[in-house]
Amino acid sequence: MKRFLLLPLCALCLAAGAYAQEAQSLKDAYKDYFMIGVAVNQRNISDSLQSALVKREFNSMTAENDMKPASVHPAAGRWTWERADRIADFCRQNGIKLRGHTLMWHNQMCDWMFYDAEHHFVSKDTLFQRMRDHIHTVVNRYKDIVYCWDVFNECIADGPRRPDANGRDQPLRESKFYQICGNDEFIRKAFEYAREADPHALLFYNDYNECDPVKCDRIYTMIKTMKAAGVPIDGIGMQGHYNIYGPSPEDIEAAVSKYAEVVDHIHVTELDIRVNREMGGQLQFSHNEGATVTDEQKHKQEAQYAALFRIMRRHADKVNCVTFWNLSDRDSWLGADNYPLPFDRNYQPKPLYRVIRDFE
Ligand code: XIL
Repeated sequence: MKRFLLLPLCALCLAAGAYAQEAQSLKDAYKDYFMIGVAVNQRNISDSLQSALVKREFNSMTAENDMKPASVHPAAGRWTWERADRIADFCRQNGIKLRGHTLMWHNQMCDWMFYDAEHHFVSKDTLFQRMRDHIHTVVNRYKDIVYCWDVFNECIADGPRRPDANGRDQPLRESKFYQICGNDEFIRKAFEYAREADPHALLFYNDYNECDPVKCDRIYTMIKTMKAAGVPIDGIGMQGHYNIYGPSPEDIEAAVSKYAEVVDHIHVTELDIRVNREMGGQLQFSHNEGATVTDEQKHKQEAQYAALFRIMRRHADKVNCVTFWNLSDRDSWLGADNYPLPFDRNYQPKPLYRVIRDFE
């Protein structure tokens, strides 16, 4: 049994050794442009090969799930810090910067925050009080290491515009936040609370399908209006859950240029490029299970990644960080058969890795 295991393991180590001797990593290659980040789970930081890869390639990290509201604050007054603390400690020990993700979101949220003991919606004021307590507590705990926070995630609706009660365009998602408040005050408040808690952290609004011209315009208008009213928003997070067919380089470039008009900091926060035709941050999608990847798909993917990084390098005055959503195809939330990342399911670099790194 041992002998059978030993051979493939050795082959893996040799391949890993050859790659490890290469001079440049992603973070080195991009040092004059922006930070290169990765979203991590607990395995990535405890397994020695995986954590070596994280340290070698990346200078910014995001907790894939472990800092989300439901992870750290599952019930009123109950805080579960262990996993988030491990990630923060890993960053502290290895000199890696930590992107905080996410203070508020309609998914993986502390659902208890929306309800009273009879399971009726709480008042707006109670919700704001609970949000403030959550935001202050989390931000304070990681103040020394988190350099920016996604304060609110995914507030803008997809699809056609819907009129509000007064017949005006209503671009917000019908989340429980929205149902309780009836307007965008919950977003404004979250940013104010985050700024109170840490005046030094950069505060981001983060969303997906952010290059779709209609949604881009909604995000742009919301941020512009809020900033004009004094809401402390520093940056826009472009999630970057794309596929090999889109968005087009023109739409990506148009979105970055537009966002650059209203904020000084743009991050690509959750980059992956899957090989099927789905895209976006919705939590229902196909894992492409059992599908084999063709050479044509691989080439399209390389071209899409190359175009994306070319655009981001051109906008490096405003683009400060590009984060891959997961370390390898094995870890990807999209499933390994969606083939979305530069490292394969054995943590080896694909040809795609060199396309991204060796851009000159
Ligand atoms: C995803 C995680 O990767 C999954 O493990 C989890 O089951 C669901 O959330 N947009 C976001 C991320 O902002 O937090 C989501 O992460 C992916 C979509």
